[in-house]
Amino acid sequence: MQLKMFETTSELDRYAAQLFADALKEKPASTLGLATGSTPVGIYEKMIELYQQGDISFKYATTFNLDEYVGLTADHEQSYARFMNRHLFAHIDLPAGQTHLPQGTADDLAAECANYDRMLEERAVDIQLLGLGHNGHIGFNEPDRELQSGTHIVELEQATREANARFFASIDDVPTQAITMGVGSILKAESILLVVKGSDKAGILKQALQGPITTECPASLLQTHKNVTVLVDREAGRLL
Ligand code: F6R
Repeated sequence: MQLKMFETTSELDRYAAQLFADALKEKPASTLGLATGSTPVGIYEKMIELYQQGDISFKYATTFNLDEYVGLTADHEQSYARFMNRHLFAHIDLPAGQTHLPQGTADDLAAECANYDRMLEERAVDIQLLGLGHNGHIGFNEPDRELQSGTHIVELEQATREANARFFASIDDVPTQAITMGVGSILKAESILLVVKGSDKAGILKQALQGPITTECPASLLQTHKNVTVLVDREAGRLL
């Protein structure tokens, strides 16, 4: 595991975007694993800049997002599909047919999970971007006595719903379930980029990187992966 600490989030974002640019230069048809939430927004901005400068093209790339809320249509203001369009997809040359997110309104959610896994098995993710939840979740794999390997439906923890309520009119509007890639699928990626920002994540980051490997802190399972790069700002890294 490689750890890099940055003085400013802007430097971190630029570095992370450049890693994606390098991956795409080396292999234009890369499969990129993407995340939503606050953490990647700045990284996506830098990717868009690199695209606008002609330094990067997504034309041959394929993307898979980690997760989507159950019950929100793709055009719902707070769906992750909409988030990805707003923050990245609408601004780059990635053909729409090459982006994938779980469908949170599928009639048969179990079949949707199986279908997502099938697509993920067909192409290995080359580089997987991850944020870190305050409870140690990655994707929406919440702390538990057991974790599921493949894509599945999760009940969101109250703390996770509270953390995400900032994007909704009220906490009652935050969905109670999500579809998420499982930890097994995440760990199959060739390389993983865990990005953590802010003082409020310092404790859980320390636990994830230096604590015991336990399903009670899903991010700690990243310790078992052979190619993880952790990018943190000074605040998030203050306890390491
Ligand atoms: C989002 C996701 C989540 C977030 C995590 C951190 O697709 O899978 O695991 O990465 O909840 O969220 P932020 O970045 O908003 O602090």
